[in-house]
Amino acid sequence: MNGSALVIKNLEKTYAGGTHALRNVSLEVPAGDFFALLGPNGAGKTTLIGVVTGLVSKTGGSVEVFGIDIEKEPERARTMIGLCGQEVNFDPWMKPLDIVVNQAGYYGIPRSAAIPRAKKILEDLGLADKMDQIGFRLSGGMKRRLMIARALIHEPKFLILDEPTAGVDVELRRSMWDYLTALTKRGITILLTTHYLEEAERLAKHVAIINKGEILVNGTMEEILKLHDGSASSGGYGGGKLEEIFVKLTTDSTNSPQDEKN
Ligand SMILES: Nc1ncnc2c1ncn2[C@@H]1O[C@H](COP(=O)(O)OP(=O)(O)OP(=O)(O)O)[C@@H](O)[C@H]1O
Ligand SMILES: [Mg+2]
Repeated sequence: MNGSALVIKNLEKTYAGGTHALRNVSLEVPAGDFFALLGPNGAGKTTLIGVVTGLVSKTGGSVEVFGIDIEKEPERARTMIGLCGQEVNFDPWMKPLDIVVNQAGYYGIPRSAAIPRAKKILEDLGLADKMDQIGFRLSGGMKRRLMIARALIHEPKFLILDEPTAGVDVELRRSMWDYLTALTKRGITILLTTHYLEEAERLAKHVAIINKGEILVNGTMEEILKLHDGSASSGGYGGGKLEEIFVKLTTDSTNSPQDEKN
């Protein structure tokens, strides 16, 4: 696939309280990519996703989704995107099938078309036997999968997932990554955030590391892994290469802007 799914230029976000959450962020996600946005807690990942999906207003810069400016044509840009947010945000008293079918309604998909489509997606995500009981009864990992199903119902070209595997057990995490990889093979572009760096190292094509609102590095996984200097990991804990690069970059004060007073 040609072109870019996402082009961010000089993005700035300062929240009302004064927190400078994004500082001159520029980023490109090629169409069809599997892109991992990594960074420690509070780095600005969810803020960036919020701006791209229209949930957070930017203070400066520009964002285009498949060439559509999110400021000029917000509705059109939004239909390109499926969002699986960081917080579980569905009505726990509703059934998974209804949650997914209702979402389809927001995109003008008739119920008659939405029901079989929703069933198929829920089945693919291993929720076949849960789709008719209230969401409240789902386990944490099942709730995450339901949110992925809901994000996919309008067949977006671009799926954005904010920590989709948080709190998900190893086996399920693997199957979720497999599922996401299969989506990219079908041409869907994926941008996700995760704190599971070994999985990101294995599966993502491109990676950006953000810290305190600033992009520290951004490139193909191969390019980023080349930053590894081969030295032994400190403290006796040997993570993957990406993890060591991540820790080095995000704890090296020369790479980080000064904390701003709020
Ligand atoms: N609605 C808000 N109002 C004010 N400040 C906010 C708001 N949302 C986030 N922030 C601040 O912006 C900064 C970036 O937060 P953000 O949620 O984007 O981080 P993150 O990288 O997603 O972190 P995590 O890995 O913990 O999810 C933090 O300092 C946070 O406190
Ligand atoms: Mg976040």
